[in-house]
Amino acid sequence: MTRPRIAVLGSANMDLVVTTQRAPERGETVTGHEFRTVPGGKGANQALAAARAGGDVTFLGAVGDDDFGRRIRDLLEADGIDVGELAVVAETTGTAHITVDDTGDNSIVVVPGANGCVTALTDPHRAAIRAADALLLQLELPLLVVAEAAAYAHSVGVRTVLTPAPAIPLAGSLLEQVDFLVPNEHEAMILTGADDPHQAGRELAERCAQVVVTLGAEGAVYLGSGRPALQVPAFPVEVLDTTAAGDTFVGVLAVGLAEGLEPEATLRRAAAASALSVQRFGASSSMPTRTEIDHFLS
Ligand code: ADP
Ligand code: NA
Repeated sequence: MTRPRIAVLGSANMDLVVTTQRAPERGETVTGHEFRTVPGGKGANQALAAARAGGDVTFLGAVGDDDFGRRIRDLLEADGIDVGELAVVAETTGTAHITVDDTGDNSIVVVPGANGCVTALTDPHRAAIRAADALLLQLELPLLVVAEAAAYAHSVGVRTVLTPAPAIPLAGSLLEQVDFLVPNEHEAMILTGADDPHQAGRELAERCAQVVVTLGAEGAVYLGSGRPALQVPAFPVEVLDTTAAGDTFVGVLAVGLAEGLEPEATLRRAAAASALSVQRFGASSSMPTRTEIDHFLS
């Protein structure tokens, strides 16, 4: 079987991760356990998750001319991702400053840096999108280029999966061009103003063809055009670090979609992959391979 082709237009960041018993309150200093740098960014994370799950992935984005940028490029390349259109720009590579507490919860400050330089589609970007079976988008690049990519993919019949994170108000025209919207529960509620993630999902499903609201350890709910809501249970596992659980879920979802799997089967594989990822530390370091996902489900 030929591998499904996935284009990812998105962010690449270096995650600067501290672990601590608990995150500091405003104005407070706490002593943490340890510090690590881990390549991340929603775009790069989803690209890695999709590549490890069996996708033939092209990454479209930008990094700075610095050590963080080179590490990210090397990491993507090591997983066989095409980085020919990962631009090197005169800004620092994006960084995400992540605090993980002893319960596994995290809080994050993102500095976009080079990601902010991706402001319009280039001809090579268009060629990569056209050649893909699915396009993955998030909101860590300038909104204009995300909207341009969604419109372009729509015009050439390539299915788009959008992770609306960080959550910002989205134009209806953007949502109409997206085939799959995958917010987590917080993002779903911010996008709609609903105070319940299930209600938020129903409202989003009126604006977008298919919606998956992820609910952390509660799993996810899928709302497809005209079908009853489908509950996607999470697999019960010991949680070490939930960083990038959602990105793992989306990357694997895209591969299933591009392979033509039904939503049920696709979402089960996505839930399995993210259950594996929450048992491991970090973002890129925690995404499972296709073999690991198959083994977990067997
Ligand atoms: P995000 O990382 O975007 O906040 P979620 O926390 O909703 O995303 O997680 C995405 C998916 O990862 C969930 O739908 C679920 O399948 C899986 N997942 C998340 N947390 C857990 C957990 N504690 N145990 C098992 N699976 C989990
Ligand atoms: Na993890």
